[in-house]
Amino acid sequence: MPVFQESISLKPFNTFRIDSKADRFVEIKRESDLKAVFDGVDRYTQEILVLGGGSNMLFTKDFKGLVIKISIPGISYVENGDEVIVTAGAGVVWNDLVTFCVHHDFAGLENLTLIPGTVGASPIQNIGAYGVELKDVFSSCTAFEIATGDIKKFTYSDCNFGYRESVFKNKLKGKYIITSVNFTLNKKATIRTQYGAIAAELERRNIKQPSIADVSMVVAAIRVSKLPDPSTIGNAGSFFKNPVIDKKQFEVLFAKFPEVVHYPAPAEKIKLAAGWLIEQCGFKGKVVGQTGTWKNQALVLVNHGYASGQEVYDFSEQIIRAVHAKFNVALNREVNIF
Ligand code: EPU
Repeated sequence: MPVFQESISLKPFNTFRIDSKADRFVEIKRESDLKAVFDGVDRYTQEILVLGGGSNMLFTKDFKGLVIKISIPGISYVENGDEVIVTAGAGVVWNDLVTFCVHHDFAGLENLTLIPGTVGASPIQNIGAYGVELKDVFSSCTAFEIATGDIKKFTYSDCNFGYRESVFKNKLKGKYIITSVNFTLNKKATIRTQYGAIAAELERRNIKQPSIADVSMVVAAIRVSKLPDPSTIGNAGSFFKNPVIDKKQFEVLFAKFPEVVHYPAPAEKIKLAAGWLIEQCGFKGKVVGQTGTWKNQALVLVNHGYASGQEVYDFSEQIIRAVHAKFNVALNREVNIF
């Protein structure tokens, strides 16, 4: 039976290193523990927060409810010709899974090297980096239904993936807890280096025919050069999403700011680089009290040591206002606020 703890500091459990408290806390190591936990709590009145690596959240106050930390382990695989289905427990650290797959020469996850967080959180916001999103390798996942205690399987089409979006953030928010994820990987590598920075880094290292281990290595090098390491400086990766706007709005913006960094997006829309917009407003590397933006990537907000969640949140409001005033573009947070 899992052990409930009272009045626990969440500082070790969120990569922003915000020192909020949870009224109750329980760690889950097996899928079957979930049933035991929900038999012991009032699932309708108790506020519940499911925590993986805590790498995409900002606590602005103490949490008056039950935090369920998912630590379900295990990686296994089944080979079928060139295809490999890899299954990982929701509590597996994302980069441990990537390392396992790169080591076994199972291609598909290498561009997602060093993304913080756990496997269970990966489908929720359809994690992505360097030209690949989780949805490109996702096969299915299993999840515990809080209301009934049943385990349900979700296929690709059930998940409604979008840019940092899925059904678990929308229609089914708070209803299911992901317990494991199945990935379709391949023993014949298709190297995806179309993202400019990867090609440039491979070229710089004079790697002409990259293996998936090479791609993983250069992605790690790029991330380390741009992004702060959460083990030394609190942060949650990109704080905002890159805004997606329609053509008409883009034309107005482009006429005024022809240097605006942008990419084509589905449905004839345009995605803007939020980091560029924020930098242009003078925020790159700015320090305000204990918070600020990262010196090499303005899209990342950091905790310089003792920031409160509210302080970080207020700073993010300042950024939203500045970007709106200068560009008439709305920034939306990628990080979940509690
Ligand atoms: N840029 C600036 N100034 C900055 C930051 C960026 O001008 O301070 C411009 C540059 O032109 C740069 C472009 O923005 O070339 C894009 O920057 P980058 O390659 O760093 O990517 P991003 O769009 O800022 C997204 C993801 C990251 C992911 C990278 C690489 C989102 C919200 N973020 O960032 O994901 O690692 O692409 O694929 O989509 C995360 O979600 O937490 C995350 C880190």
